[in-house]
Amino acid sequence: MLCLLVIAGCSSEDDSPSGPIVGGPTDPVDGGGDGSGDNDDPLTYNAAQDLKEIVDFPVGNIVSANRLGSSSASNETFREVLLEEFNSITAENDMKMANMFTGPDTYDFSDGDAIVDYAIENGLRVHGHTLVWHSSIPGWLNNFSGTDEEFETQVENYIKATVSHFAEATVVVDGEEVPVVKGWDVVNEAFDGAGYRNSIFRERIGSDYVEKAFQWAREADPDVKLFYNDYNVAGEVSKRNAIINMINGFLDNDVPIDGIGMQMHLNYNWPTDDLPTAIQDVADTGLLVHISELDVKANPNDDIEELTEERALAQEEQFQKAGYYYTELVPEEQQYGLTIWGFRDQDSWLYENGSDWPLLYNNEFETKLAHRGLAAGLSGESAD
Ligand code: XIL
Repeated sequence: MLCLLVIAGCSSEDDSPSGPIVGGPTDPVDGGGDGSGDNDDPLTYNAAQDLKEIVDFPVGNIVSANRLGSSSASNETFREVLLEEFNSITAENDMKMANMFTGPDTYDFSDGDAIVDYAIENGLRVHGHTLVWHSSIPGWLNNFSGTDEEFETQVENYIKATVSHFAEATVVVDGEEVPVVKGWDVVNEAFDGAGYRNSIFRERIGSDYVEKAFQWAREADPDVKLFYNDYNVAGEVSKRNAIINMINGFLDNDVPIDGIGMQMHLNYNWPTDDLPTAIQDVADTGLLVHISELDVKANPNDDIEELTEERALAQEEQFQKAGYYYTELVPEEQQYGLTIWGFRDQDSWLYENGSDWPLLYNNEFETKLAHRGLAAGLSGESAD
């Protein structure tokens, strides 16, 4: 069984001295916003609805064990917003290989367990991210001096141990036992453009390492949903075609796969018209579709010093398009969900010391126009 882990008062990333923000993502009861309201900041608005209430599929965001366990004021606000707006969580880093695969045949699942425990207490779904990724390899494995066969055994055992471990966490819903960790990104970013990326996994296991990873995951758990996840699936047509080609090959050859994660790291001005085509192409595989890491850079070329209203409106439109096309084009039974990659702008992996503002909340946790765009898109309002 999973332990209940409480990490108290350890908030290294903590920052903001202020407490919960009045007028933060406005509760329909408290704020009663309708998109107009009495808000005179041109970059924020009073939200009328919590995101998860708008659609029937899960709406997610990222967490860390650290923030879930921290008692700082800003992390309390973070958890309030999380529970108000979202019903699915992905570990930003805690469930990656570099964090959990601590040595040969040695695993540390404690941060993932804390996240799963929090999800159980609060009725959230967990999406597992990610088993195999070239950017999250523990040092000892990178420098592994054993044979290629031994390297492969390490990876196989890691995948099986991890998937089996997290399959143990279940909750009872309507008298039925269901897993908390509903799916896993089995392989992340195996492509570099339209070709396979030359990673240590490919070098040491062979060109069929992706197929093998999916097979190992399936052997460990017959039910968990298995995803291939990558970026620029929208916006880079040749890469998308190569990925879909690989996946159709999996389907033809009975390689177990259930879904495709489109990361959706967008820019305010990119992609322009490829978004619906991309979502449609991915949905046409018949697999589950996950928008897995949505954010929208407002300043990709570093040409503004602060978020302008014009950029905020362009960013809003991209969020709206992502939400709209996902909601409208992906058949209901394939809608695994839409996950945002962060809360406040300053939490984003793309924040770069305050030179971009890619997310739904400003640094006071107030809902930006980006949030209005996403809410509108999820409500079925087209931006075009
Ligand atoms: C990022 C995290 O947000 C950062 O904190 C970390 O330093 C690097 O990884 N694609 C992915 C995610 O699949 O796991 C990445 O997350 C962002 C890009």
